[in-house]
Amino acid sequence: MTPRDEQKHEAAREAAKLVENGMFVGLGTGSTTAHFIDALSERMRLETLKITCAATSVATERRAAELGIKVMPLDTVVDLAVDGADEIEFGTLHLIKGLGGALLREKQIADSSRSFVVIADESKLVDHLGEHSKLPVEIVEFACARTVARIAELGISPTIRLADANDPYRTDNGNLIVDCRVGPDLEAMALDLALKTIAGVVETGLFTTGCAAAIVGFADGTTRRFEGDHFARIGVAASIATLRQLSLPQPREKPIIAVMGVSASGKSTIGAMLAACLNVPFVDGDDLHPQQNRDKMHAGYALDDHDRLPWLHSIAGTLRSWRMAGSGGVMVSSLLTRRYRDLVRTGCPDLILVNLEGEHAILATRIASRHGHFMPPTLLDSQFATLEPPGPDETVISVRVDASPIEILKIIMRSFSILA
Ligand code: 5RP
Repeated sequence: MTPRDEQKHEAAREAAKLVENGMFVGLGTGSTTAHFIDALSERMRLETLKITCAATSVATERRAAELGIKVMPLDTVVDLAVDGADEIEFGTLHLIKGLGGALLREKQIADSSRSFVVIADESKLVDHLGEHSKLPVEIVEFACARTVARIAELGISPTIRLADANDPYRTDNGNLIVDCRVGPDLEAMALDLALKTIAGVVETGLFTTGCAAAIVGFADGTTRRFEGDHFARIGVAASIATLRQLSLPQPREKPIIAVMGVSASGKSTIGAMLAACLNVPFVDGDDLHPQQNRDKMHAGYALDDHDRLPWLHSIAGTLRSWRMAGSGGVMVSSLLTRRYRDLVRTGCPDLILVNLEGEHAILATRIASRHGHFMPPTLLDSQFATLEPPGPDETVISVRVDASPIEILKIIMRSFSILA
């Protein structure tokens, strides 16, 4: 193995540790991902790990099949996708991908993943995208000269990729690739959007949302994990990007909101997306527990009212600080009882509740399908028994949880005008 291969190998082995039994795993394309596929097959052999996978290219599908890894169509959410990259921008974790020509399927799988992790050797880390790599853009063959001319208007010097002296390179989708030169002044999101408004462009190799983490191998044999932003880590960055394109109506003033509901109602996801849509701070109430509560929960004991008191005061304090700053904010907490809601409202009398409502059966199914989260079914029963739905004197937007997160966000954003 060359030193660079060693780095890829180590990064891939680290990523393979993230895979859990029963997961639907997205497999990227390229030499680094090949190490990941090998590491997965080794775990399957040694630990009887059982997974199914979706592949981003014909080559990856073939390699996985040779190693006995079951490859399925991409028809459901992927638990974890792992892929290589041509460049990883330090800090933002924006990527250039597609030197291997698989960018469309790679983006489809990344976009459908709860968690998208990129693996690479250290040569792929850059301060600004475009430092070493050209930007691949997939286009349809029809009228390709016109499409290339339109892309050239953006000042990024597109050239059609060739397979050999006479023939253009073709992707697994039968399309062409143009490689474009992007400079250090690149505005990745704006360029991605501009390219996609050109008819004939299928997809770009700019990955600007959703990279939860980058695992990078270094020459000294170590690997380092770089974290993506909060939204990428909880797997909602791609949905937020979609929501931003919808230009949903904004409330006149920045609201202060508590997203409430029982376990598995989607509070963290909806709360984070709502904060991003409103451009206000976001806090997960669970992060405000004092250490002694954490220790107690960690030891497997349930908290009582006495334990929860300092925590509820801390939530009220955060709401109060948002109110005083006029920043608005979104807090996530189950807040199942009226008493608890009254207590946190001492910090913000005009608190708006977003109540996520769902039947027991729907939520129990969700809990059962979660990986790495064990929750005894009795806990959900006890939460339903505790739940006191908001009364007519509370300011509340109630939404059913069986719609998609984007639909739920549309309902919430459109409800502010009714409350006003
Ligand atoms: C293929 C890709 C690859 O992930 C990228 O080219 C990195 O490849 P490698 O791991 O071989 O360096 O985007 O379309």
